[in-house]
Amino acid sequence: MSRKKVTIAELLEKKQNQQKITMVTAYDYPTARILDQVGIDTILVGDSLANVVLGYESTVPVTMDEMLYHCRAVARGVNSGFIIGDMPFLSYQVSHEKAVENAGRFIKEAGCDAVKLEGGSDMASTVRAIVRAGIPVCAHIGLTPQTATMLSGYKVQGKNAESARKLIQSAKDLDEAGAFMIVFECIPDFLASRITGDLKIPTIGIGAGKDCDGQVLVYHDLVGLFDRFTPKFVKQYINLTPMIKEAIAKYKADVEAGKFPGPEHSFSMDKQEADKL
Ligand code: KIV
Repeated sequence: MSRKKVTIAELLEKKQNQQKITMVTAYDYPTARILDQVGIDTILVGDSLANVVLGYESTVPVTMDEMLYHCRAVARGVNSGFIIGDMPFLSYQVSHEKAVENAGRFIKEAGCDAVKLEGGSDMASTVRAIVRAGIPVCAHIGLTPQTATMLSGYKVQGKNAESARKLIQSAKDLDEAGAFMIVFECIPDFLASRITGDLKIPTIGIGAGKDCDGQVLVYHDLVGLFDRFTPKFVKQYINLTPMIKEAIAKYKADVEAGKFPGPEHSFSMDKQEADKL
């Protein structure tokens, strides 16, 4: 029996009942099907796509069209998971009009249930504008990879009292602006715990400790399909790369030795018909 679609109310209820929310990224149909069949609550089509699928050095170059293409593939594989499309760099910063228009494309053209965007208090009015258009927004604060250069690199945020206070204020402003959930990336566990306790909306951590209302990992990190760099917060549950390499090497050897395909992979023809040729 297929599960019912996960709703924002259920995510909120999970927080209230102290049940953890699960989130994993997906960028294609087969992965989306696996996550959905396992019962992952929220499936994020992250702009981490830029790194782990498209091979870019950062998330900055990925475009709206690339994000929508991958969101559509994910949506085709999902029945019940709540799908969040990640708004790429400069798709929401230029103006509220542009932000609403682009957010709308994730919903109308790509089958997403919500969008995610990076930024703190400065982005609150943008979140408000998108929410006013009827589109649920997940916020993302702490280490915000799209603007990592402004943060002087991929560093833990909120380590001193001043920057921690800014993050506390950002979370409050984004909540008031109508965000239904907030991702915390790379902030001290004490701070994540404190903000999670203060907020009514659920928080999702990645490198933010165990007290967030839920956790997210990038699929390719979780299953060992990306080895260019591995942040401290990643837990690899399986290392698929060597297993896949071994399988491909066996296939290569079989083809080269004439062992594949065997008769069981081939189609026969009636001898009578063959003789007519
Ligand atoms: O793009 C992404 O995968 C993300 C998660 C790391 C939260 O933003």
